[in-house]
Amino acid sequence: MTITPALLEDWLRERYFTTTFDISSSGVENYTVDEVLALAGTSAASLGGIMFRDSHSLGGEPLRAALARRYGVDPGSIIATQGSSEAIYLVMHALLEAGDEVVVQAPAYHALVEVAASVGARIVPWAMRTEDGIVTNEDELIALIGPRTKLVVVNFPHNPTGATVTPGQQDAIIEACAAHGTRLAWDGAFRELVYDREPLPDPVLRYERAVSFGTLSKAYGLPGLRVGWAFAAPEVLAGCVRRRDYLSLALSPLVEAVATHAVEHADELLRPRLAQATANRKLLADWLAAHADRVAGDLPAGGVTAFPALTTVPDVTAFADRLDREHGVLVVPGNCFGRPEHVRVGFGGPADELTAGLTRLGDLLPDPS
Ligand SMILES: Cc1ncc(COP(=O)(O)O)c(C=O)c1O
Repeated sequence: MTITPALLEDWLRERYFTTTFDISSSGVENYTVDEVLALAGTSAASLGGIMFRDSHSLGGEPLRAALARRYGVDPGSIIATQGSSEAIYLVMHALLEAGDEVVVQAPAYHALVEVAASVGARIVPWAMRTEDGIVTNEDELIALIGPRTKLVVVNFPHNPTGATVTPGQQDAIIEACAAHGTRLAWDGAFRELVYDREPLPDPVLRYERAVSFGTLSKAYGLPGLRVGWAFAAPEVLAGCVRRRDYLSLALSPLVEAVATHAVEHADELLRPRLAQATANRKLLADWLAAHADRVAGDLPAGGVTAFPALTTVPDVTAFADRLDREHGVLVVPGNCFGRPEHVRVGFGGPADELTAGLTRLGDLLPDPS
């Protein structure tokens, strides 16, 4: 098996720890252990009695019960994993074989394409187009789905563009999959991070051949906890466990205990971060408007990343490297998503860091010729 290097991870691996103004991230401002435990009315002392025994292959019962209550799914349809990265890896391996046809949104978060490709699947890209943060060409996605399509993979709200679909567009995608018995993998990592709209319904609640991915890494502000999940039919989860037995076996009970508190107090964790992201999105909108002669891009409808093109910069990757090394501002160059003229800007963090980063980025943009 060969697998394509994850350019996004290569880019962030060291820079993430050394930069001054991080406006690269796809998550919100992070929480501490104490902050999570305080919401649950407890403290770190309550973790002292946890026995370091092995947990269940699908995730411990209290964590799955909390996820089931929050998202309205059956506890038997849940696997809790080491971030949603592990869930994506397991599900792709459980569902796909060499030669299978897989329709994937482009651009996409690397794992959603490259794990399927590494299994030997034939990737059929759907080049997504958007206007004002909403997809405009779902009909082209639907036209790609046929009797040979084994799996359709999408992520809404979308990393890196922040684009999403309407509930009606989501219905049309599900119906197209159902018409051919095609499985649908729906990455809802940013589900709760939406502006002026409700979170989309989870497709697993209405289509038995859907799988959805979720995570505590993005909207919940807990990326270092490394907890995500897949919701899927039990036979899909059985295929995941087969593979997990060779990978991570299970989550730590300590991690599961903190994650259970987080899910049980989801609204209290999510609300302040969504408020912060909503305010930051206004700062981003002002910045985009002020630089409209050198930056072209939509305001996101969801998530905490935007993906504008830097229209006056001849080499965006070199520019992003200099921006970090000489000015301490970290963004993600679009080549990490196969779009080298673009840059991913994260706006989920503290407002002062966002303002400092955007100001420096804007000051360095060459004049239009
Ligand atoms: C769309 C999407 N899915 C999945 C992941 C994986 O995140 P994690 O493994 O932390 O849940 C990411 C991370 O950036 C992402 O952007």
